[in-house]
Amino acid sequence: MTANISHSNSRLTNRRIASVQQEEHSLTVTWDDGSESLYHYIWLRDNCSSAFHSDTQERDFDLLSVSEDIHPLSVQIGEMSLDITWSEGGHKSAFLWSWLHEYDYSRVNQVRHISGYQSWDSSFLQSIPRAHYDAVISDDKALYQWMVALDKLGLTIIEGMPDTTESTVSLATRIDYLRQTNFGTTFDVVSVESPINLAYTSISLPLHTDLPNQETPPGYQFLHCLANECEGGESTFVDGLRVAEELREQCPDHFTLLSEQVIPFRYHDQEQDIRQHHSVINVDDFGNIVEVKYNAHIAAVFDLPSDIMRDYYLAYRNLMARFRDERFKIELKLQAGQMVVFDNRRVLHGRNKFEDTSGRRHLHGCYVDRSEFKSRLRVLAQQHGS
Ligand code: OGA
Ligand code: ZN
Repeated sequence: MTANISHSNSRLTNRRIASVQQEEHSLTVTWDDGSESLYHYIWLRDNCSSAFHSDTQERDFDLLSVSEDIHPLSVQIGEMSLDITWSEGGHKSAFLWSWLHEYDYSRVNQVRHISGYQSWDSSFLQSIPRAHYDAVISDDKALYQWMVALDKLGLTIIEGMPDTTESTVSLATRIDYLRQTNFGTTFDVVSVESPINLAYTSISLPLHTDLPNQETPPGYQFLHCLANECEGGESTFVDGLRVAEELREQCPDHFTLLSEQVIPFRYHDQEQDIRQHHSVINVDDFGNIVEVKYNAHIAAVFDLPSDIMRDYYLAYRNLMARFRDERFKIELKLQAGQMVVFDNRRVLHGRNKFEDTSGRRHLHGCYVDRSEFKSRLRVLAQQHGS
């Protein structure tokens, strides 16, 4: 059977294959600009376009249906493809040049593995990206542009929010479905008589990220201001990414402890006892800092090994002190009709204490997780990306 040569989503390239050299387990393609790329036979066979279901594009090829020594009987440079007849099953594959180029894993190609996040300090107050509710609700291009900014910078403001709690959900679900937590699918931040959470008082909330006691803390947080007529109650934000970057630069041993050791987080009330260990900083396989989880209120009793405990405390205190450094802090007072949207797994948020009796304060909140956010962004990029 000859496989269909199109792999969906492969981008066009001007590169042409000049020649191919076969080795024992791989072949080397020389492109017309003289550069080389190496592809293993087992990888090529596993990624033949016939290995994917034509409708769902999920892999339905069974890797164990061929031997580990599968190799080409013939390799030919076609019009736009590299054509291979395999040693097993009489199978033929055709790999588009553009596809081979896009999925080339032999080049030192870290480009697509850079997180794309841009960190900021207190000067960001002047340039926080703003979008308007009406535009984001009705126009996919506006939605896309706002999400691009949010992805990169981790903090944005939506202006012109209608004075309803429903509008919080309408805006957030332009991205995707909401993350449900023990505080509900949406939550109201108001000062109440018997609070189950410090947020539901009028005391100050030091900088934190929400719910690191969850296995996966919520991704993007929406806090829609319906009223903020009290004295105090200003919002504070710090880019955990920037602070972590600086710590890595200046105190690499502390950074390593905070990214390699895990500490316990716990929330409990009458009905819940939700616990999880996490590292405070997460670095991905490519060295990008991709997550910061910090919440002094729900950090539980540390249970690190004895020989690490003291050093860990020194590293943790170092990070805490940096989070409080004014160089990093943004402070603003949300007005009714504004909504902050931020990456809760990167940007720390807090609020100043407020005077209960001086006026009403009401924020309506919800979350959308990172994977749904990234998925929506990719799909929108196909239509609206440059
Ligand atoms: C929260 C929170 C901030 C505020 O509810 O988790 O951080 O401004 N609220 O009340
Ligand atoms: Zn919070």
